[in-house]
Amino acid sequence: MKKIVILLGAPGSGKGTQAKIIASKYDYTHISTGDLLRGLEQDSDVDPQDKAMLENMKTGKLVPDDLVYKLAFEKIRAGLTSGRGVVLDGAIRNVTQAEKYQEFFEQLGYADEVSVLEIRISDQTSFNRLAKRKVCERCGYIMPYSPETENLKNCPHCTGRLKSRQDDKPEIIKKRIREQGNQALAPLVKFYRDKGLLRVIDGERSISQVEKEVEKKLENV
Ligand code: AP5
Repeated sequence: MKKIVILLGAPGSGKGTQAKIIASKYDYTHISTGDLLRGLEQDSDVDPQDKAMLENMKTGKLVPDDLVYKLAFEKIRAGLTSGRGVVLDGAIRNVTQAEKYQEFFEQLGYADEVSVLEIRISDQTSFNRLAKRKVCERCGYIMPYSPETENLKNCPHCTGRLKSRQDDKPEIIKKRIREQGNQALAPLVKFYRDKGLLRVIDGERSISQVEKEVEKKLENV
């Protein structure tokens, strides 16, 4: 199995859900740029210029590329030098970023250690899932939606409070789908397909079916 696993997909495609499973199953470091950016928002010591860039996130747009590199590269280097693999969850969103990451992997001597999985869902599924998503504010658990658990207030793992994300409001979800959904991702998907690195997973199936497909694709390289 390759040491660098890149997960692509529209908002709500299950990148976070599957990245957590991969990290736990293979002892890989999970690097979610969304989580790193949300962490920055809570940090009072952050450079005010960096903080200003986070405004994009609140309105459903991508944040500037340089901020992403600043947050992600250090974590990737640390993960790989510790001997573990890394799973990149939403860390690459456009071709400019993909090229920059590729250069970085080359510098680290890991250019041949890349697997790319696109988890594909429709825009409608994207909207439906995000409108119902709840996340634990303490441990980050992403609560799978079901009618039985819809009204649950606390995390089944740590009892932390379950909350909707700030950017999971209907108007912002629609903007995210426009700016970061399948249409926006098409050039990035082509970039990896042309390099022969892309494998596509049907993300419309259940979490455990997607997990099995991910496992098959990662282990058969
Ligand atoms: P980020 O936090 O990464 O948001 P996102 O890409 O919109 O993805 P999500 O976290 O919303 O969804 P997901 O695919 O992880 O799905 P999840 O597993 O939660 O980024 C936030 C913001 O940060 C961006 O908008 C941008 O501004 C900025 N940003 C981040 N990275 C950046 C970068 N590289 N460059 C520039 N800006 C960047 O699942 C969703 C729901 O569906 C959950 O409820 C889950 O339980 C459920 N679910 C998952 N899989 C299934 C399934 N198979 N069946 C049924 N339900 C499922």
